[in-house]
Amino acid sequence: MQTKIWRVDPQTPDETLLAEAAQAILSGQLVAFPTETVYGLGANAFDRQAVRRVFLAKGRPAQDPLIVHLADAELLSQVAREIPPFAETLARAFWPGPLTLVLPKQEGVLDEITAGLPTVAVRVPAHAVALGLLRASGVPIVAPSANRFGHVSPTTAQHVLEDLGGLIEGILDGGSTHVGVESTVLDLTCTPPHLLRPGGVSLEALQEQIGEVVYLPQKPPEEGELTAQRSPGLLAKHYAPQAELWLFAGQRERALQNMRQTAEQACRSGRRVGVLVGEEARGFFSELPLVLYSLGSEQRYDEMAKRLYAGLRALDRQGVELILAREVTGEGLGLAIRDRLRRAASRVIE
Ligand code: TXA
Ligand code: MG
Repeated sequence: MQTKIWRVDPQTPDETLLAEAAQAILSGQLVAFPTETVYGLGANAFDRQAVRRVFLAKGRPAQDPLIVHLADAELLSQVAREIPPFAETLARAFWPGPLTLVLPKQEGVLDEITAGLPTVAVRVPAHAVALGLLRASGVPIVAPSANRFGHVSPTTAQHVLEDLGGLIEGILDGGSTHVGVESTVLDLTCTPPHLLRPGGVSLEALQEQIGEVVYLPQKPPEEGELTAQRSPGLLAKHYAPQAELWLFAGQRERALQNMRQTAEQACRSGRRVGVLVGEEARGFFSELPLVLYSLGSEQRYDEMAKRLYAGLRALDRQGVELILAREVTGEGLGLAIRDRLRRAASRVIE
């Protein structure tokens, strides 16, 4: 299969191209598209065969439910019911935007989408291309991140092509996504609500709107332990690059010194080493034969989030066997970056 690329302007996408992509969605095809977080792999949420093909194309286990994307919060009752006042408050505050709400599912929502759960995850993305596609097709669109299962999420159309080229009908190419990490997933079916995945909307911003929100950063489960998860996508070794990743936690100077020593040793023993750090830490690794990918300023979590997945993919592409990264602490997007790095890591060095 040849994967068609529609190149569109991210702010004002060509209506004719959107209509073409929408037609593909309505005829059961798979079309990847940019959202503000990462690229999604889209299919008509009412088309069982198309939804099944999403799992096949990604190599995703059937137990991992999908997010339904809507053009407008007004359409929420199409897919969810018993919508609590919290949901309306949050939708008003953050939609369109990187927040996914888990709610009781409406009758008729396909079991394939929810992996048999009585709940459905739903969001309205803040991206002109995603919204244009949703409006032009007139149906809710399921869209997991458009990567092979377990791999790093795509933040450019090129990343999607690397993972799914030849397996899907088309990609709307709207350039790089601007948040860079996935949406925040919030379960509203329990009281108080549970943060299942930190993401583009911060925990603090949620608490400001609705008060108490529970977040239990779980110890990563054993590899392959799938069904016991609250949110099945939250697997150990998720979001992982091909290379092994070691994460250095604790006090900054000590962690960076330790990283440098580890890098020296690994280089000496002939391993191809990559380092993923903020710009300010570059000096620690000078004169070592390694590949350094800068995440931008350590002070700017928005920049770091945006560059994180591209960095992991770039280091993989350069044939690095071992990636050394520093733990990120702090609030806001820092929580999402820490979560993704922890899940990508095979070792955390305190
Ligand atoms: O930013 C995003 O959310 C991107 C863009 C494309 O919208 N999508 C995305 O989808 O990250 P995916 O499939 O990679 O992650 C969806 C997450 C998974 O962790 C999944 O387990 C969780 O949402 N999820 C979906 N339905 C759920 C449900 N009913 N209950 C609990 N968690 C659910
Ligand atoms: Mg994903």
